Amino acid sequence: MPKKKILVVGSGAREHALAWKLLQSPSVGEIVVAPGNAGIAGIARCVPVSVDDVPGLVALARSEAIDLVVVGPEAPLVSGLVDALEAAGIAAFGPRREAARLEGSKAFAKEIMREAGVPTAGFAVFDDAEAAEAYVREAGRPLVVKADGLCAGKGVVVAKDTAEALEAVRAMMRERVHGDAGARVVIEECLVGPEVSYHVVCDGTRYVPLAAAQDHKRLLDGDRGPNTGGMGAYSPPPVVTPEIERAILSRVVEPVLETMRARGTPFRGALFVGVMVVDGAPQVLEFNVRFGDPETEVLMARWGGDVLPLFDAAARGDLGGIAPAWDAPHALAVVLAAHGYPTAPRKGDRIEGLEAVREVPGVVAFHAGTRASGGGLETAGGRVLTVTAIGASLEEAAERAYLACDRIRFDGMQLRRDIGWQARRS
Ligand SMILES: Nc1ncnc2c1ncn2[C@@H]1O[C@H](COP(=O)(O)OP(=O)(O)O)[C@@H](O)[C@H]1O
Ligand SMILES: [Mg+2]
Repeated sequence: MPKKKILVVGSGAREHALAWKLLQSPSVGEIVVAPGNAGIAGIARCVPVSVDDVPGLVALARSEAIDLVVVGPEAPLVSGLVDALEAAGIAAFGPRREAARLEGSKAFAKEIMREAGVPTAGFAVFDDAEAAEAYVREAGRPLVVKADGLCAGKGVVVAKDTAEALEAVRAMMRERVHGDAGARVVIEECLVGPEVSYHVVCDGTRYVPLAAAQDHKRLLDGDRGPNTGGMGAYSPPPVVTPEIERAILSRVVEPVLETMRARGTPFRGALFVGVMVVDGAPQVLEFNVRFGDPETEVLMARWGGDVLPLFDAAARGDLGGIAPAWDAPHALAVVLAAHGYPTAPRKGDRIEGLEAVREVPGVVAFHAGTRASGGGLETAGGRVLTVTAIGASLEEAAERAYLACDRIRFDGMQLRRDIGWQARRS
């Protein structure tokens, strides 16, 4: 069989992990990444086309005669990159625009959940600030206010009281701090419980369950400090029992895939189900229509088989015969973030010690905000590296990951020391 040429779209540690895993496939000949980063450039050819440049990405895929495009981030999916690629006759892993609304519009996601009978927090949708404010006053209890559109993880306020909820409505709907993304809001009941991410790969009808993972959104140990894009992850989290996993598949994934198919907008690609475990059962907080970051890093590290047939079959609508292929029983990833992250990350700090990481068994450092500078590397974004380790136990994965982290240095480096605490406490 001729080897395939793959285009990976994105520039983070997630895309580094996807390219790294795809390169292990005997069927992959070459990988091009747009735009990539300094770490990805060490394993693949990076081309400076932005993830927002849909025509540019289609032109690149065409001129490079790409066999399959794997799309990392949500924004190009929501703006129709997969539709444009398919119109040009190029296979792509990821949902088309209509199906990507599961992430692109929180109100749409809730509507689908209601239609599919998915367990999720009670909610109301508002296009009018006054009506939203009246609803909040009337409720008089903690509520969650969510901007409808894409906000790069900054569009949700978990309000502890009425005043906070009113302030969130004002900021989103009246001040438009998130632009048009806040013209409509979803107001939800506030749930309490541990959160997990569950990923499945879908072909429109069938799906391959991947695994659960747990992200750590707060900057500081003990889940304190400001929210971030994610400071680390591990898989599998023990809070996801086999029973909860079955419930996620039968009560969430299957009815949602069926509802999307029945509407004529089948979901293909990676579906990330954001779950809160409440009283031993899953409640869906949100859907993402692509792989999570840093979840992807631990999932790809654990995956044992050839990942190309999974993505390729999903893109072509034929997942029959593809089974999950886990190798490492545990993986844990620690994000190394720049000085000033998440508010004002500093760029230009020299990164040292990455060579020494290669001596630690079972560890790989995926790059996010790094760039080449004077023969070395320097920081170039908020999340700089995701140091990922596999292990026979979670403890072993954690030991290896932190051993590797301690060999890496850059000024102002921030990391959490307690990744996996929910599973490692005992
Ligand atoms: N109904 C809810 N009850 C309690 N907390 C919530 C609820 N919905 C969201 N959250 C909290 O807000 C975070 C962000 O919400 P989410 O829906 O995942 O949006 P996004 O990831 O797009 O910002 C969640 O990870 C969770 O901690
Ligand atoms: Mg989320």
